[in-house]
Amino acid sequence: MAAPAYEVRDWGGHGGPPLQTLMAEQSPELQVEAARKAFEQDFERFARFTGDPSGLNGLDLEAALAEERALGELRTRHLGKKSSLAGTKKLIGRVAPEERAAFGQLVQATEASLLQSLDQAEQSLKSHIENERTARESIDVTMPGRRPRSGHRHPITLMRERLEDVFVALGYAIEDGREIETDFYNFDALNIPENHPARAWQDTFYTTDGFALRSQTSTVQIHAMQRRGVPVRMIAPGRVFRRDTPDPTHNPMFFQVEGLCVDRGITMAHLKGTVAEFLRRIFGPDTVTRFRPSYFPFTEPSAEFDFSCFKCKGAGCRICKNSGWIELGGSGMVHPNVLRTVGVDPEEFSGFAFGFGIDRMTALMYELDDIRLLFENDVRFLEKFE
Ligand code: DAH
Repeated sequence: MAAPAYEVRDWGGHGGPPLQTLMAEQSPELQVEAARKAFEQDFERFARFTGDPSGLNGLDLEAALAEERALGELRTRHLGKKSSLAGTKKLIGRVAPEERAAFGQLVQATEASLLQSLDQAEQSLKSHIENERTARESIDVTMPGRRPRSGHRHPITLMRERLEDVFVALGYAIEDGREIETDFYNFDALNIPENHPARAWQDTFYTTDGFALRSQTSTVQIHAMQRRGVPVRMIAPGRVFRRDTPDPTHNPMFFQVEGLCVDRGITMAHLKGTVAEFLRRIFGPDTVTRFRPSYFPFTEPSAEFDFSCFKCKGAGCRICKNSGWIELGGSGMVHPNVLRTVGVDPEEFSGFAFGFGIDRMTALMYELDDIRLLFENDVRFLEKFE
Protein backbone atom coordinates (compact mmCIF):
# COMPACT_ATOMS: atom_id res chain seq x y z
CA MET A 1 0.00 0.00 0.00
CA ALA A 2 1.91 3.03 -1.19
CA ALA A 3 0.99 6.41 0.25
CA PRO A 4 0.09 9.12 -2.29
CA ALA A 5 3.18 11.13 -3.26
CA TYR A 6 1.42 14.42 -2.56
CA GLU A 7 -1.91 15.63 -1.38
CA VAL A 8 -3.99 18.34 -2.91
CA ARG A 9 -5.50 20.40 -0.16
CA ASP A 10 -8.26 22.91 -0.43
CA TRP A 11 -7.32 25.66 2.00
CA GLY A 12 -10.57 27.44 1.58
CA GLY A 13 -8.90 30.80 0.85
CA HIS A 14 -10.55 33.68 -1.00
CA GLY A 15 -8.90 32.92 -4.24
CA GLY A 16 -8.45 35.69 -6.75
CA PRO A 17 -6.05 38.62 -6.62
CA PRO A 18 -5.73 40.73 -3.43
CA LEU A 19 -7.69 44.01 -3.21
CA GLN A 20 -4.72 46.31 -3.86
CA THR A 21 -3.95 44.61 -7.14
CA LEU A 22 -7.56 44.83 -8.05
CA MET A 23 -7.57 48.56 -7.25
CA ALA A 24 -4.45 49.12 -9.26
CA GLU A 25 -6.00 47.28 -12.08
CA GLN A 26 -9.16 49.39 -11.93
CA SER A 27 -9.37 52.36 -14.26
CA PRO A 28 -8.56 55.67 -12.54
CA GLU A 29 -12.17 56.80 -12.97
CA LEU A 30 -13.43 53.66 -11.25
CA GLN A 31 -11.03 54.27 -8.41
CA VAL A 32 -12.45 57.78 -7.90
CA GLU A 33 -15.92 56.31 -8.04
CA ALA A 34 -14.98 53.67 -5.46
CA ALA A 35 -13.57 56.30 -3.11
CA ARG A 36 -16.81 58.31 -3.43
CA LYS A 37 -18.93 55.24 -2.78
CA ALA A 38 -16.93 54.29 0.28
CA PHE A 39 -17.32 57.83 1.61
CA GLU A 40 -21.04 57.84 0.99
CA GLN A 41 -21.47 54.58 2.83
CA ASP A 42 -19.66 55.89 5.88
CA PHE A 43 -21.29 59.27 5.68
CA GLU A 44 -24.83 57.91 5.51
CA ARG A 45 -25.53 58.24 9.22
CA PHE A 46 -24.41 61.89 9.16
CA ALA A 47 -26.51 62.76 6.12
CA ARG A 48 -29.44 63.65 8.40
CA PHE A 49 -27.42 66.61 9.68
CA THR A 50 -27.05 68.20 6.26
CA GLY A 51 -30.69 68.91 5.38
CA ASP A 52 -33.14 70.77 7.60
CA PRO A 53 -32.18 71.14 11.26
CA SER A 54 -34.87 68.69 12.43
CA GLY A 55 -32.30 65.93 11.92
CA LEU A 56 -30.69 67.13 15.13
CA ASN A 57 -33.82 66.98 17.25
CA GLY A 58 -33.41 65.03 20.43
CA LEU A 59 -29.62 64.86 20.13
CA ASP A 60 -28.27 65.80 23.55
CA LEU A 61 -24.96 67.53 24.18
CA GLU A 62 -22.97 64.37 24.92
CA ALA A 63 -24.31 62.56 21.82
CA ALA A 64 -23.66 65.60 19.61
CA LEU A 65 -20.07 65.82 20.85
CA ALA A 66 -19.57 62.13 20.06
CA GLU A 67 -20.98 62.62 16.58
CA GLU A 68 -18.65 65.56 16.03
CA ARG A 69 -15.68 63.39 16.95
CA ALA A 70 -16.83 60.57 14.66
CA LEU A 71 -17.24 63.04 11.84
CA GLY A 72 -13.67 64.27 12.33
CA GLU A 73 -12.39 60.71 12.08
CA LEU A 74 -14.41 60.18 8.93
CA ARG A 75 -12.85 63.29 7.39
CA THR A 76 -9.32 61.95 7.97
CA ARG A 77 -10.24 58.53 6.66
CA HIS A 78 -11.73 59.73 3.39
CA LEU A 79 -10.03 63.03 2.71
CA GLY A 80 -6.76 62.75 4.61
CA LYS A 81 -3.32 62.29 3.04
CA LYS A 82 -3.57 58.51 3.16
CA SER A 83 -7.14 58.27 1.85
CA SER A 84 -8.05 56.51 -1.41
CA LEU A 85 -9.16 59.83 -2.82
CA ALA A 86 -5.72 61.31 -2.11
CA GLY A 87 -4.33 58.22 -3.89
CA THR A 88 -6.27 59.03 -7.04
CA LYS A 89 -4.60 62.46 -7.19
CA LYS A 90 -1.32 60.71 -7.84
CA LEU A 91 -2.85 59.08 -10.90
CA ILE A 92 -3.50 62.40 -12.62
CA GLY A 93 0.03 62.48 -13.94
CA ARG A 94 -0.24 58.98 -15.22
CA VAL A 95 -3.36 59.08 -17.34
CA ALA A 96 -3.07 59.72 -21.06
CA PRO A 97 -2.45 63.41 -21.75
CA GLU A 98 -5.69 63.89 -23.64
CA GLU A 99 -7.70 62.50 -20.70
CA ARG A 100 -5.68 64.23 -18.02
CA ALA A 101 -7.69 67.46 -17.73
CA ALA A 102 -11.02 65.66 -17.56
CA PHE A 103 -9.70 63.21 -14.97
CA GLY A 104 -8.18 66.02 -12.92
CA GLN A 105 -11.53 67.78 -12.93
CA LEU A 106 -13.30 64.58 -11.87
CA VAL A 107 -10.96 64.17 -8.90
CA GLN A 108 -11.37 67.80 -7.85
CA ALA A 109 -15.13 67.80 -8.28
CA THR A 110 -15.41 64.62 -6.27
CA GLU A 111 -13.26 66.00 -3.49
CA ALA A 112 -15.23 69.26 -3.48
CA SER A 113 -18.52 67.43 -3.20
CA LEU A 114 -17.34 65.23 -0.34
CA LEU A 115 -15.96 68.28 1.44
CA GLN A 116 -19.23 70.11 1.03
CA SER A 117 -21.24 67.31 2.62
CA LEU A 118 -18.75 67.03 5.45
CA ASP A 119 -18.64 70.76 6.09
CA GLN A 120 -22.39 71.03 6.11
CA ALA A 121 -22.82 68.22 8.61
CA GLU A 122 -20.03 69.62 10.74
CA GLN A 123 -21.47 73.12 10.67
CA SER A 124 -24.91 72.08 11.82
CA LEU A 125 -23.47 69.80 14.51
CA LYS A 126 -21.33 72.66 15.80
CA SER A 127 -24.19 75.10 16.04
CA HIS A 128 -26.36 72.44 17.67
CA ILE A 129 -23.64 71.85 20.27
CA GLU A 130 -23.41 75.59 20.84
CA ASN A 131 -27.18 75.81 21.41
CA GLU A 132 -27.21 72.84 23.74
CA ARG A 133 -24.41 74.36 25.80
CA THR A 134 -26.16 77.71 26.08
CA ALA A 135 -29.40 75.98 27.07
CA ARG A 136 -27.64 74.02 29.75
CA GLU A 137 -25.88 77.02 31.22
CA SER A 138 -28.84 79.36 31.11
CA ILE A 139 -30.89 79.99 34.24
CA ASP A 140 -34.57 79.31 34.14
CA VAL A 141 -35.93 82.34 35.95
CA THR A 142 -39.32 80.67 36.32
CA MET A 143 -37.88 77.89 38.51
CA PRO A 144 -38.56 78.26 42.22
CA GLY A 145 -35.41 79.52 43.97
CA ARG A 146 -33.61 77.77 46.77
CA ARG A 147 -34.66 79.33 50.03
CA PRO A 148 -31.76 80.13 52.34
CA ARG A 149 -32.37 78.14 55.52
CA SER A 150 -32.78 80.44 58.44
CA GLY A 151 -31.04 79.48 61.64
CA HIS A 152 -32.66 78.84 64.99
CA ARG A 153 -31.67 79.84 68.42
CA HIS A 154 -30.48 76.88 70.46
CA PRO A 155 -33.00 75.64 73.08
CA ILE A 156 -30.47 76.47 75.82
CA THR A 157 -30.20 80.01 74.45
CA LEU A 158 -33.99 80.30 74.40
CA MET A 159 -34.12 79.23 78.04
CA ARG A 160 -31.27 81.56 78.99
CA GLU A 161 -33.04 84.50 77.37
CA ARG A 162 -36.28 83.68 79.19
CA LEU A 163 -34.65 83.61 82.58
CA GLU A 164 -32.59 86.70 81.82
CA ASP A 165 -35.84 88.52 81.03
CA VAL A 166 -37.31 87.53 84.38
CA PHE A 167 -34.26 88.66 86.37
CA VAL A 168 -33.78 91.87 84.41
CA ALA A 169 -37.43 92.66 85.26
CA LEU A 170 -36.56 92.05 88.95
CA GLY A 171 -33.72 94.59 88.71
CA TYR A 172 -30.77 92.26 88.18
CA ALA A 173 -27.78 92.99 85.94
CA ILE A 174 -26.39 90.29 83.66
CA GLU A 175 -22.72 89.46 84.21
CA ASP A 176 -20.51 87.74 81.72
CA GLY A 177 -17.90 85.55 83.39
CA ARG A 178 -14.74 83.93 82.17
CA GLU A 179 -14.54 80.23 81.38
CA ILE A 180 -10.88 79.80 82.33
CA GLU A 181 -10.22 80.49 85.98
CA THR A 182 -7.57 80.36 88.64
CA ASP A 183 -7.94 78.28 91.78
CA PHE A 184 -8.55 81.50 93.64
CA TYR A 185 -11.84 82.31 91.89
CA ASN A 186 -13.06 78.75 91.43
CA PHE A 187 -12.27 77.62 94.98
CA ASP A 188 -10.34 79.73 97.55
CA ALA A 189 -12.41 82.89 97.30
CA LEU A 190 -15.55 80.75 97.56
CA ASN A 191 -14.43 79.41 100.92
CA ILE A 192 -13.15 76.13 99.47
CA PRO A 193 -9.54 75.93 100.68
CA GLU A 194 -7.09 73.39 99.34
CA ASN A 195 -7.84 69.84 100.53
CA HIS A 196 -11.48 70.75 101.08
CA PRO A 197 -13.61 67.75 100.05
CA ALA A 198 -15.82 70.02 97.90
CA ARG A 199 -12.95 70.28 95.41
CA ALA A 200 -13.20 66.58 94.65
CA TRP A 201 -16.75 66.54 93.21
CA GLN A 202 -15.95 69.59 91.18
CA ASP A 203 -12.95 68.12 89.40
CA THR A 204 -12.54 69.86 86.08
CA PHE A 205 -10.14 70.21 83.16
CA TYR A 206 -6.78 71.82 83.73
CA THR A 207 -4.99 73.99 81.20
CA THR A 208 -1.72 75.77 81.84
CA ASP A 209 -0.39 75.49 85.39
CA GLY A 210 -2.63 77.33 87.81
CA PHE A 211 -5.55 77.62 85.35
CA ALA A 212 -8.57 75.40 84.89
CA LEU A 213 -11.95 75.50 83.19
CA ARG A 214 -14.38 76.77 85.80
CA SER A 215 -16.52 74.10 87.41
CA GLN A 216 -19.24 76.50 88.57
CA THR A 217 -20.56 79.97 87.78
CA SER A 218 -20.17 80.92 91.47
CA THR A 219 -16.80 82.37 90.38
CA VAL A 220 -18.69 85.34 88.96
CA GLN A 221 -19.90 86.29 92.48
CA ILE A 222 -16.30 87.21 93.24
CA HIS A 223 -15.62 89.04 89.97
CA ALA A 224 -18.89 90.96 90.22
CA MET A 225 -18.27 92.15 93.77
CA GLN A 226 -14.67 93.08 92.98
CA ARG A 227 -15.66 95.08 89.94
CA ARG A 228 -19.03 96.55 90.96
CA GLY A 229 -18.64 96.67 94.74
CA VAL A 230 -21.79 96.38 96.85
CA PRO A 231 -24.76 96.64 96.87
CA VAL A 232 -25.04 94.33 93.88
CA ARG A 233 -27.75 92.33 92.16
CA MET A 234 -26.66 90.21 89.25
CA ILE A 235 -27.12 86.93 87.45
CA ALA A 236 -24.34 85.20 85.52
CA PRO A 237 -25.33 82.58 82.97
CA GLY A 238 -22.54 80.60 81.32
CA ARG A 239 -20.67 77.42 80.53
CA VAL A 240 -19.13 75.28 83.23
CA PHE A 241 -17.03 72.13 83.02
CA ARG A 242 -16.68 68.98 85.04
CA ARG A 243 -14.79 65.78 84.65
CA ASP A 244 -18.00 63.79 84.22
CA THR A 245 -18.67 60.89 81.90
CA PRO A 246 -21.58 61.80 79.63
CA ASP A 247 -24.86 60.03 80.38
CA PRO A 248 -28.54 61.00 80.01
CA THR A 249 -28.28 63.51 82.88
CA HIS A 250 -24.58 64.54 82.70
CA ASN A 251 -22.33 66.22 80.21
CA PRO A 252 -18.76 67.40 80.86
CA MET A 253 -19.77 70.85 79.62
CA PHE A 254 -23.06 72.35 80.71
CA PHE A 255 -24.69 75.66 81.52
CA GLN A 256 -25.44 77.20 84.87
CA VAL A 257 -26.82 80.47 86.02
CA GLU A 258 -25.58 82.11 89.17
CA GLY A 259 -27.54 84.71 91.11
CA LEU A 260 -26.21 87.12 93.72
CA CYS A 261 -27.86 89.83 95.74
CA VAL A 262 -25.88 91.71 98.39
CA ASP A 263 -27.17 94.73 100.24
CA ARG A 264 -27.88 95.96 103.76
CA GLY A 265 -30.49 93.87 105.55
CA ILE A 266 -30.83 91.03 103.04
CA THR A 267 -32.34 87.91 104.64
CA MET A 268 -33.30 84.37 103.74
CA ALA A 269 -36.82 85.70 103.13
CA HIS A 270 -35.50 87.70 100.17
CA LEU A 271 -33.86 84.57 98.79
CA LYS A 272 -37.03 82.53 99.08
CA GLY A 273 -39.21 85.26 97.63
CA THR A 274 -36.89 85.79 94.68
CA VAL A 275 -36.49 82.13 93.74
CA ALA A 276 -40.23 81.48 94.17
CA GLU A 277 -41.17 84.46 92.03
CA PHE A 278 -38.69 83.45 89.33
CA LEU A 279 -40.09 79.92 89.17
CA ARG A 280 -43.69 81.20 89.05
CA ARG A 281 -42.80 83.40 86.10
CA ILE A 282 -41.16 80.52 84.25
CA PHE A 283 -43.40 77.56 85.14
CA GLY A 284 -46.71 79.28 85.88
CA PRO A 285 -48.37 81.18 88.76
CA ASP A 286 -49.39 78.00 90.64
CA THR A 287 -45.79 76.85 91.03
CA VAL A 288 -44.86 76.11 94.64
CA THR A 289 -41.24 76.25 95.80
CA ARG A 290 -39.69 74.40 98.72
CA PHE A 291 -36.30 74.73 100.38
CA ARG A 292 -34.38 71.85 101.96
CA PRO A 293 -31.43 72.45 104.29
CA SER A 294 -28.17 71.57 102.58
CA TYR A 295 -24.49 72.39 102.56
CA PHE A 296 -22.37 74.56 100.26
CA PRO A 297 -19.02 75.99 101.36
CA PHE A 298 -19.80 79.52 100.12
CA THR A 299 -23.20 79.91 101.83
CA GLU A 300 -24.33 79.69 105.45
CA PRO A 301 -27.06 78.62 105.95
CA SER A 302 -27.49 76.71 102.68
CA ALA A 303 -30.53 75.19 101.04
CA GLU A 304 -31.46 73.29 97.94
CA PHE A 305 -34.67 74.27 96.26
CA ASP A 306 -37.33 72.24 94.48
CA PHE A 307 -40.52 73.31 92.74
CA SER A 308 -43.86 71.60 92.27
CA CYS A 309 -44.01 69.62 89.03
CA PHE A 310 -45.35 71.82 86.23
CA LYS A 311 -46.71 68.79 84.42
CA CYS A 312 -48.74 66.94 87.05
CA LYS A 313 -49.09 69.86 89.51
CA GLY A 314 -47.68 67.70 92.25
CA ALA A 315 -49.75 64.56 91.69
CA GLY A 316 -46.73 62.56 90.52
CA CYS A 317 -45.66 61.74 86.97
CA ARG A 318 -42.74 60.59 84.85
CA ILE A 319 -41.05 63.99 84.87
CA CYS A 320 -40.97 64.38 88.67
CA LYS A 321 -40.36 60.65 89.12
CA ASN A 322 -43.70 60.40 90.94
CA SER A 323 -42.54 62.68 93.76
CA GLY A 324 -44.50 65.75 92.68
CA TRP A 325 -41.33 67.84 93.10
CA ILE A 326 -38.49 68.73 90.76
CA GLU A 327 -35.08 69.46 92.24
CA LEU A 328 -33.46 72.45 90.61
CA GLY A 329 -30.56 74.12 92.41
CA GLY A 330 -28.57 75.26 95.40
CA SER A 331 -28.74 78.49 97.35
CA GLY A 332 -28.02 80.13 100.66
CA MET A 333 -26.86 83.23 102.48
CA VAL A 334 -23.45 84.38 101.26
CA HIS A 335 -20.78 83.12 103.69
CA PRO A 336 -19.06 85.93 105.68
CA ASN A 337 -15.67 84.60 104.49
CA VAL A 338 -16.70 85.19 100.86
CA LEU A 339 -17.72 88.78 101.65
CA ARG A 340 -14.49 89.38 103.53
CA THR A 341 -12.39 88.05 100.62
CA VAL A 342 -13.70 90.83 98.40
CA GLY A 343 -13.39 93.45 101.13
CA VAL A 344 -17.05 93.67 102.11
CA ASP A 345 -17.85 93.95 105.82
CA PRO A 346 -20.26 91.10 106.77
CA GLU A 347 -21.45 93.17 109.74
CA GLU A 348 -22.78 95.81 107.39
CA PHE A 349 -23.78 93.75 104.35
CA SER A 350 -25.47 90.45 103.85
CA GLY A 351 -26.65 88.66 100.76
CA PHE A 352 -28.02 85.54 99.15
CA ALA A 353 -26.82 83.48 96.23
CA PHE A 354 -28.25 80.68 94.16
CA GLY A 355 -27.25 78.57 91.20
CA PHE A 356 -28.81 75.96 88.93
CA GLY A 357 -28.35 74.25 85.59
CA ILE A 358 -29.85 75.90 82.52
CA ASP A 359 -29.65 72.78 80.41
CA ARG A 360 -31.30 70.72 83.12
CA MET A 361 -34.11 73.26 83.18
CA THR A 362 -34.31 73.16 79.35
CA ALA A 363 -34.48 69.36 79.38
CA LEU A 364 -37.29 69.53 81.95
CA MET A 365 -39.21 72.19 80.06
CA TYR A 366 -39.07 70.33 76.75
CA GLU A 367 -39.35 66.89 78.35
CA LEU A 368 -36.09 65.61 76.90
CA ASP A 369 -35.02 62.18 78.13
CA ASP A 370 -31.38 62.76 77.38
CA ILE A 371 -29.50 65.99 78.08
CA ARG A 372 -26.87 65.05 75.48
CA LEU A 373 -29.40 65.75 72.70
CA LEU A 374 -28.72 69.41 73.45
CA PHE A 375 -25.08 69.09 72.51
CA GLU A 376 -25.21 66.83 69.46
CA ASN A 377 -26.07 69.70 67.11
CA ASP A 378 -28.47 67.62 65.06
CA VAL A 379 -30.35 70.25 63.05
CA ARG A 380 -33.47 68.07 62.83
CA PHE A 381 -33.65 68.22 66.63
CA LEU A 382 -32.69 71.86 66.97
CA GLU A 383 -35.24 73.03 64.39
CA LYS A 384 -38.07 71.92 66.68
CA PHE A 385 -37.58 74.82 69.09
CA GLU A 386 -38.64 78.40 68.64
N1 DAH B 1 -22.11 76.29 92.55
C1 DAH B 1 -22.99 75.24 92.96
C2 DAH B 1 -22.83 74.04 92.07
O1 DAH B 1 -22.21 74.16 91.04
C3 DAH B 1 -24.43 75.72 92.89
C4 DAH B 1 -24.73 76.72 93.94
C5 DAH B 1 -25.11 76.33 95.21
C6 DAH B 1 -24.59 78.08 93.67
C7 DAH B 1 -25.38 77.25 96.19
C8 DAH B 1 -24.86 79.03 94.66
C9 DAH B 1 -25.26 78.57 95.90
O2 DAH B 1 -24.76 80.32 94.43
O3 DAH B 1 -25.55 79.51 96.88
O4 DAH B 1 -23.32 72.99 92.38
